[in-house]
Amino acid sequence: METVFHNVTVAETGERFLCGEGESVLAAMFRAGRGPITYGCCGGGCGACRMKIVSGNYVPFKKMSRAHVSERDIQDGIVLLCCVQPRGDLTIRAV
Ligand code: FES
Repeated sequence: METVFHNVTVAETGERFLCGEGESVLAAMFRAGRGPITYGCCGGGCGACRMKIVSGNYVPFKKMSRAHVSERDIQDGIVLLCCVQPRGDLTIRAV
């Protein structure tokens, strides 16, 4: 089966990178060398990769620590990038 890739745009810089549906947005950002790259545990626990998804569809595939992302945050599109995969083109920005 072919991997489906989506464009991810960093709102502040206009930088763009590709992210496959089977990988986290954080992993793709790191691979592409795009910023802002802040990461720690890569497992949803440390909150270092907390960003806002401004537009686009995504799915969480790992549990996000409630200490770093509240229910309200999720409604506002704030996620941990190590825990979400794209299901369409995304625009993200720092929070
Ligand atoms: S890198 Fe630790 S929560 Fe994403």
